[in-house]
Amino acid sequence: MIITVASSKGGVGKSTTTAALAGALAHQGRRVHVVDLDSNQTVSRWLGGQNFAPRLTVSVADPQDLTAHLAEMAAKSKPDVTLIDIAGTYERALTVAVARANLTIIPAAPSSRRPASPVISGRCSRPSAGSRCSGSC
Ligand SMILES: Nc1ncnc2c1ncn2[C@@H]1O[C@H](COP(=O)(O)OP(=O)(O)O)[C@@H](O)[C@H]1O
Ligand SMILES: [Mg+2]
Repeated sequence: MIITVASSKGGVGKSTTTAALAGALAHQGRRVHVVDLDSNQTVSRWLGGQNFAPRLTVSVADPQDLTAHLAEMAAKSKPDVTLIDIAGTYERALTVAVARANLTIIPAAPSSRRPASPVISGRCSRPSAGSRCSGSC
């Protein structure tokens, strides 16, 4: 199974989601391979080179070479789950990674706007009986 964590925005939690999922799935006993397509190599810095979890491997790939890299890693690591972490830019690799995935997760940062006021103010010419008018009649 291939899971792509995708968004054309940076800083929304793609690498965090990838690392958390990879750790959780590996600790459940699945063989997990993480493909890092971000040239910043965030997720491979977090997970690579450490004994983060058994059955967890990480590789850094050239976004232009994703299809061949996936085939190579599938043959080498034989993962139950492959997670793809992409860079926060729109590029062809995003399209390819989403097309190759069985599941795509799109993290989104919450809006910082305040929720709309529950009271709607406005003008009303004839408020109906029992209703409250919050506007200027
Ligand atoms: N669910 C979350 N809640 C709060 N902060 C988060 C969450 N997910 C990620 N972050 C923080 O947001 C920042 C960007 O996360 P990151 O996973 O690197 O984003 P991306 O890979 O999309 O660029 C990091 O500082 C990370 O710790
Ligand atoms: Mg990232």
